[in-house]
Amino acid sequence: MKKIMLVLGTRPEAIKMAPLYHELKLHPDLFETQVCITAQHRQMLDQALKVFNVKVDVDLDLMKEGQDLFDITSSVLLGMREVLKSHQPDVLLVHGDTTTTLAAAIAGFYAGIPIGHIEAGLRTHDLYAPFPEEFNRQVVTKITNLHFAPTAFSRQNLLNDGVPETQITVTGNTVIDALFWVINRIDSDALRLRDVCKFLNERLSFSWQQDRFILITGHRRENFGDGFMQICEALKELAVSYPDIHFVYPAHLNPNVQVPVNSILMGLPNIHLIGPLSYEPFVYLLKHCYFVLTDSGGIQEEAPSLGRPVLVMRDVTERPEAVEVGAVRLVGANRERIVSNVSELIENEASYKKMSHVRNPYGDGKACARIIDVLGKIK
Ligand code: UD1
Ligand code: UDP
Repeated sequence: MKKIMLVLGTRPEAIKMAPLYHELKLHPDLFETQVCITAQHRQMLDQALKVFNVKVDVDLDLMKEGQDLFDITSSVLLGMREVLKSHQPDVLLVHGDTTTTLAAAIAGFYAGIPIGHIEAGLRTHDLYAPFPEEFNRQVVTKITNLHFAPTAFSRQNLLNDGVPETQITVTGNTVIDALFWVINRIDSDALRLRDVCKFLNERLSFSWQQDRFILITGHRRENFGDGFMQICEALKELAVSYPDIHFVYPAHLNPNVQVPVNSILMGLPNIHLIGPLSYEPFVYLLKHCYFVLTDSGGIQEEAPSLGRPVLVMRDVTERPEAVEVGAVRLVGANRERIVSNVSELIENEASYKKMSHVRNPYGDGKACARIIDVLGKIK
């Protein structure tokens, strides 16, 4: 019996680790599964954990309003020291590239506990984009024993970094497992579907199932300040130019996002500012939107699976697979480029069609089974 501890801190970690948690729980003869949350995010993490019914064993409850990287890194590292001492897991599973991921992996390394890294090998090769995520994942690679790469491309990045081939497994991305799971759950349960639609009807004052709308999210640290001003100014200009198109923006709770978004975009009739959505209504909106404008990592992976084009408000991406298949385009956090690219997709049907076929380079929804297979074989 192996003691496996999953460490999560933010919304995307919860969404992407939840299917793995459930897959581990299916094998109580092989694994004792423990979940430790740092709660680097509080409300947004709890929202995601609730959707997936994840039972938490340890809650460090660390989030502070306006926390910085020093706060999170030090508090996760110190918090994990005690957790690892008292729980003594055989393997510590971390996900992706957040500060929770980095600090929890360092804690595991100091305590001599093998690290499994889910969503390993993503790279931009620019330590400042995204910041600090590119640094976080490169460091985590150094101290990881089991690398679960979502694609052949991320596997190659790991090989280029000198990771031995025997330590890498290509699994697909667990976000596709989560996405399929949630979509099947909504599609197979009329009452659930009714609740999701009712929830969205109460928040959106237009016919979101019929009218064209663009779904927007954004939260990258390197876009704070000027980047967010440009994003908001672009949205304002677009909302005025296209009064028949709706812009739905479930804004991240970070004050660096909330302040510019609310001050620049509040009051425009076709811009709908709502709070972060629970995963089910969010996925349902993703399915119904015309296209997505985002700087998010996870949404670049989900939207192509649903045939929704994505304009990414960044200059580089660690997820080039969807750019290569033509479903994602980089537009930067730049007012002119956002306006011209959004206008093109609204006005030019051929451009839109080219980007909107269902293309999913991120997996078949069986990533977790492949990860379990490897975990089951460790001595
Ligand atoms: C974090 C991750 C980022 C990930 C993102 C997912 C780091 C450095 N950043 O960025 O990689 O893509 O999460 O969304 O690890 N807040 C709340 N409630 C919440 C969540 C956040 O109020 O549920 C506010 C708090 O004021 C908090 C602030 O947002 O201090 C920033 O949260 P933080 O986790 O530091 O950064 P994110 O931008 O969310
Ligand atoms: N998401 C959500 N509700 C929202 C916005 C996003 O559930 O209001 C989901 C989205 O489907 C994806 C994840 O959150 O799975 C992405 O999180 P985020 O953009 O915060 O982080 P990133 O992926 O950039 O690390």
